[in-house]
Amino acid sequence: MSERVGIIGTGHLAGYLVEGLRRAAPDLEIVLSPRNAARAAELASRFGATIASSNQDVADSAGALLLTTRPTDAVAALHQIAFRPSQTIISAAAGIDLQALAPAAAPAAVVRAMPLSCAAINASPTLLHPDDARARALLELVGRVHATETEEAFVRASAISAFYGWLFALLDRAVEWTEIGGLAPGLARSLVLETAQGTASLGLARPHEELADLLESLATPGGITRQGLEILRDREGLGSWIAALDAVYARLAQTG
Ligand SMILES: NC(=O)c1ccc[n+]([C@@H]2O[C@H](COP(=O)([O-])OP(=O)(O)OC[C@H]3O[C@@H](n4cnc5c(N)ncnc54)[C@H](OP(=O)(O)O)[C@@H]3O)[C@@H](O)[C@H]2O)c1
Repeated sequence: MSERVGIIGTGHLAGYLVEGLRRAAPDLEIVLSPRNAARAAELASRFGATIASSNQDVADSAGALLLTTRPTDAVAALHQIAFRPSQTIISAAAGIDLQALAPAAAPAAVVRAMPLSCAAINASPTLLHPDDARARALLELVGRVHATETEEAFVRASAISAFYGWLFALLDRAVEWTEIGGLAPGLARSLVLETAQGTASLGLARPHEELADLLESLATPGGITRQGLEILRDREGLGSWIAALDAVYARLAQTG
């Protein structure tokens, strides 16, 4: 990726993206919005980026633009900028649909993306809609890109970005619980995280095996995995995760 990238909105997500982009592409020119001066200065000094004099200056200097403001600010931020037809705006604003973004981005093209904070370590599975070569080339620097055929599919799958966050809560509780046994400092954390990584790695390494079958091979009758699984099922431990996904999806679908 040789062209300049502009970033409108220099909050949490922008920080993760700048870190990952810089690691993957040491020569990539990154231009930051000056709106949050302290944050822009921090990112510029840590990762090597230029701070523009205005959002218009960001847009004037870059072909691809990452829109990483909060959802409620996204359309207003676009309206304040004059774009060129040759530009591509990649909006990360959750719940703001293309119908709302496109008029404000015109005549530039606009796509939606849902990167995760693990973009900082180039490990983000990033949803994209619609597929777009320029957006894909940029986002592939921070992980794998998964384009959806429809915006509806993008919205539903976007709920998994919240699931990603909930996993930290679950893992944290498991670490806390494991520490009670008096393990050496850091061991419970490593054990729990490597265990979760092992689950994901095995599932990814065996794409033709159903996850339910991988579980079934562990959950032998009378064994500890089955014992705990039955408690989780009885207490809606699994169902409550689906209820949370349903709630997030309903909200995302309502706002677009
Ligand atoms: N955080 C994540 O991991 C994550 C993951 C996927 C998607 N997202 C999406 O990414 C977006 C940003 O999330 P975040 O957590 O990074 O939010 P955040 O930390 O609040 O950052 C948003 C930034 O946008 C700035 N901003 C607001 N209006 C602006 C404007 N007109 N021009 C330039 N900058 C402007 C804000 O500046 P002020 O502080 O001055 O208001 C703030 O620095 C959200 O839409 C969210 O849905 C986030």
